[in-house]
Amino acid sequence: MRLDKLLAHSGLGTRKEVKKLMKTKIVKVNGEVVTDPKVHVEPDQDQVSVGGEPLDYQEFVYFMMNKPQGVISATEDLMHETVLDLLEMQDSLQEPHPVGRLDIDTEGLLILTNDGKLTHRLLSPKKHVDKLYYAKVEGVVTEADVDAFKEGVTLDDDYHTLPADLEIVSIDEERQLSEIRLTIREGKFHQVKRMMQSVGKEVVYLKRLSMGPLELDDKLELGTYRELTKEEIRQLKEA
Ligand code: URA
Repeated sequence: MRLDKLLAHSGLGTRKEVKKLMKTKIVKVNGEVVTDPKVHVEPDQDQVSVGGEPLDYQEFVYFMMNKPQGVISATEDLMHETVLDLLEMQDSLQEPHPVGRLDIDTEGLLILTNDGKLTHRLLSPKKHVDKLYYAKVEGVVTEADVDAFKEGVTLDDDYHTLPADLEIVSIDEERQLSEIRLTIREGKFHQVKRMMQSVGKEVVYLKRLSMGPLELDDKLELGTYRELTKEEIRQLKEA
């Protein structure tokens, strides 16, 4: 990686600011002053210091966000705010991206990282990583629906889903409303909403609670995020 990029990604300023900083001869690589921003370094092997302090650089960043409604889980959008707009400047330096998508009106757990390998593993259709959702649904969910979901259901495009675990949390017969928890092992477009539609029910509120071993931290307010712990990262990598 170019030294100016490494320094910029470590939060020392823009590329331009970093170049200026280097001219003051306070940046050293393996003990030698370096003023050329184009010099290449190996972040894992080379010792980079600024003003005598070793550089705190992490190649990969991992965050969990409690995504609010009204925000798009993409890296850019012309009309709406994206989840990246919710990140502090410092946390967007290494260009994390959302792992998979939640609909604009879905809340809950979203992982953001620049670790492409982990993203690929978590989203790979072959890996069948569990995703747990909580939903409020119009209509009365029945044991027959639970049984149907165990076999997988057929969506509006004739796709037959993998078996899914549907759990009835509460039923309000009077208001014709149900609360459910649903675990799915794939990630088709609008999958939870379309699965409920296949049994004649409409999702009116949807929140993701977990992805593989990672559970949404209930201390995270909507629209906020935190770094994953080392243990959480380890568990996700093993998922
Ligand atoms: N299923 C949906 O229908 N929407 C989501 O956002 C996630 C899963």
